[in-house]
Amino acid sequence: MEKILSKHFNQVEARAIDVSIANGRYSRVAKALSMKPDEITSVIKESGLRGRGGAGFPTGVKWGFVPKGTQKPVYLCINADESEPGTFKDREILKWDPHLLIEGIIISSYALGCHTCYIYIRGEYNDEALILEKAIDEAYEKKYLGKNIAGKGFDLNVYVHRGAGAYICGEETALLESLEGNRGYPRLKPPFPAVEGLWKCPTIVNNVETIANVGPIIEHGAAWYKQWGSEKCPGTRLFAVSGHVQKPGVYEAANDIRLLDLIEMAGGLRSGRKLKAVIPGGASAPVLPAHLCDIKMDPESIAQAGSMAGSSAVMVLDDSTDMVSACRTLTDFFAHESCGQCTPCREGSPWLAKLIRRIDQGEGKASDLDLLLEITKNAVGRTICVFSEANAAPVQSFIKYFSDEFLARMKHIQPKRESLPVL
Ligand SMILES: Cc1cc2nc3c(=O)[nH]c(=O)nc-3n(C[C@H](O)[C@H](O)[C@H](O)COP(=O)(O)O)c2cc1C
Repeated sequence: MEKILSKHFNQVEARAIDVSIANGRYSRVAKALSMKPDEITSVIKESGLRGRGGAGFPTGVKWGFVPKGTQKPVYLCINADESEPGTFKDREILKWDPHLLIEGIIISSYALGCHTCYIYIRGEYNDEALILEKAIDEAYEKKYLGKNIAGKGFDLNVYVHRGAGAYICGEETALLESLEGNRGYPRLKPPFPAVEGLWKCPTIVNNVETIANVGPIIEHGAAWYKQWGSEKCPGTRLFAVSGHVQKPGVYEAANDIRLLDLIEMAGGLRSGRKLKAVIPGGASAPVLPAHLCDIKMDPESIAQAGSMAGSSAVMVLDDSTDMVSACRTLTDFFAHESCGQCTPCREGSPWLAKLIRRIDQGEGKASDLDLLLEITKNAVGRTICVFSEANAAPVQSFIKYFSDEFLARMKHIQPKRESLPVL
């Protein structure tokens, strides 16, 4: 399989624009700017490229929602907030191949009729923000950004905006609020950002990895891209594999790689250990017990197994994992990060965390499991964004598959704590 995104990872010199150009970056700009904007959108649609931020929405289809002939400015916002526990794949693109992203931004902006792009980057990604800012400066110097790009009469400015450490600002409408200088509260949808986004203007929000794919697809075409992955989710994908594997890291693989093969790519399990469970798509994805892990990693196959592809953060848990404690790590995170705008989330997230903590400390009651499930039911479908559902999913799945461990803890049977889960 060809490495589309990760070919130059871990090569420090590849960040510099001259090396990057020698590696093919920006070679697609002139070609793209000679095409009609709609032709670019058609190629992206035809390629089947789907968003890599979590929801997996088809990218070309989303671009098509920008109202034709709008008199308002159109904005492109790149979501580099990457704050979901276990998710660290965009960081690698920002760090090792920032020009691949900038090239994708130029082509995507041209397709969208956009002349201003914001990259909203996670506040904690200080090194990556500096690398990106340097790369943007270099691109301006080489006239790939600014006025009359590649002599084709197209103008584009790109700005880096640093977040301030709130997970919710990765949700696209909270991101837009934050960019406007407001508190990062998600907006009610519709209207969707493509119609009414930043400063009430048409706005496309796309993930870093999504846009990094655009240059290679324009160079090689949709059919080339579709040779990998599944029919409904073609191409390759960056998987951030963490937890109990020998070589945690970011691995590029076809979208439909088998989960067990991906674990092998990451060095396999620690010696003498057995697989207990996998969280296949970031902290908001339901956990899958080992007997459900013989699956492909495309979104449809993961959904069939009862979880979701999400941000492709694969957390591997071996048989040393204390599942109550692992669940507590997740609910503590969500309780801390709820923005507080909607009552079921503001009240429900800390309540879930409090109950799980109580169970973890050996002070739970048998009725707590029913109460936990009741709270999660009230968290679903009653809030402005899906944060609350993202919180409910792990709790429901941990109880569904590992209730014996929760009940044992209530009877004060402590697990063997040989190692704590790395989440
Ligand atoms: C609570 C929450 C946090 C999110 N965080 C991120 C994030 O850090 N990065 C990201 O690309 N998408 C994140 N998303 C998804 C975005 O709302 C949006 O779907 C995505 O940026 C669209 O880009 P894509 O179509 O290229 O995937 C988050 C969603 C929710 C509900």
